[in-house]
Amino acid sequence: MSALANAPSSSVPPVIEARGLARHYEVRLGLLRGRATVRAVDGVSFALPAGRTLAVVGESGCGKSTLARVVTLLEPPTAGALVVDGEDVTTARREANPTLRRSVQMVFQNPYGSLNPRKTVGAILEEPLEINTELDKPARAEAARAMMAKVGLRPEYYGRYPHMFSGGQRQRIAIARALMLNPRVVVADEPVSALDVSIQAQVLNLMMDLQEEFRLAYLFISHDLSVVRHIADEVMVMYLGRPAEHGTKAQVFEHPRHPYTRALLASTPSTDPSRRGQRQALKGELPSPLDPPSGCAFHKRCPYATERCVSERPELRLVEGALVACHHAENLPAARAVETRA
Ligand SMILES: Nc1ncnc2c1ncn2[C@@H]1O[C@H](COP(=O)(O)OP(=O)(O)OP(=O)(O)O)[C@@H](O)[C@H]1O
Ligand code: SF4
Ligand SMILES: [Mg+2]
Repeated sequence: MSALANAPSSSVPPVIEARGLARHYEVRLGLLRGRATVRAVDGVSFALPAGRTLAVVGESGCGKSTLARVVTLLEPPTAGALVVDGEDVTTARREANPTLRRSVQMVFQNPYGSLNPRKTVGAILEEPLEINTELDKPARAEAARAMMAKVGLRPEYYGRYPHMFSGGQRQRIAIARALMLNPRVVVADEPVSALDVSIQAQVLNLMMDLQEEFRLAYLFISHDLSVVRHIADEVMVMYLGRPAEHGTKAQVFEHPRHPYTRALLASTPSTDPSRRGQRQALKGELPSPLDPPSGCAFHKRCPYATERCVSERPELRLVEGALVACHHAENLPAARAVETRA
């Protein structure tokens, strides 16, 4: 049985499946130094059923946004396969493939940049219907108003422009737009990172309500573990383009097995009063993706690294029900669960 078949959500049929997805970029280093390959995403697999949220976390530059672009086929993968509702769409162009255009939608981090400032909310919400359906104008307007109500915006604001809304309201508009075609999957790249903390919980709760109502699958990308703790069913921790650990939320937060997951958790603010002030910075710099370390990419920052870690790359494998890419996952000292702010 493959590791993927043992992935945490494998008992329910997936609406979206990634099989070894990769996205590499050829970059010029300068006249004398030639070219190099950035392995922004380098072998990511998951199987996500309806109604579930897979959160992808990791430091800046680990490949989260690249994964989002590949999973929505805004960019083609360099290797691997993407299957949506049982259909292999890997070689499809997003614009030309109706399954993809309808079924997989995206919400971006910046609700200021992602909404056309010259269009009213009504026009923004109706646009996907205009392009992808036969609905006439009155039916489109009715659908737009109904969706506004669902995301907590007053339908009277139908004729207003994006700049007339707050950041949280604009993100509600972006979410409403993503849902207009009744998608199966929403890929959300840091959807609340640009919002005040007080507004973040409202938008996350809205997303969770909408998920339940529409049975949406979420690929939820965030660098903020407290946000992930709020919304995730499963968590994939990425390091330099590859998954370090993938398990249920409880597995990853309560029993982290990969030293990188532990370091990420330890560097996050704690809600436990006895642990406040014990926040530990992650040691060392993230290595350059142009020149990743040999063996385990985390070895230069890992307190448990051995000779084997320097020479041999650890593959993702099952360790007590979670997928972990560490040679020594079974032999590390027990981790203390860290309560993050949620
Ligand atoms: N078009 C591109 N050409 C070359 N390199 C790229 C390109 N897009 C991304 N990269 C590189 O790929 C790596 C992953 O970038 P990506 O934006 O996916 O990371 P991220 O995890 O989303 O980071 P952040 O948390 O800062 O948003 C980085 O090293 C980045 O410089
Ligand atoms: S494989 Fe080695 S270096 Fe990598 S995380 Fe595990 S112990 Fe650390
Ligand atoms: Mg990003």
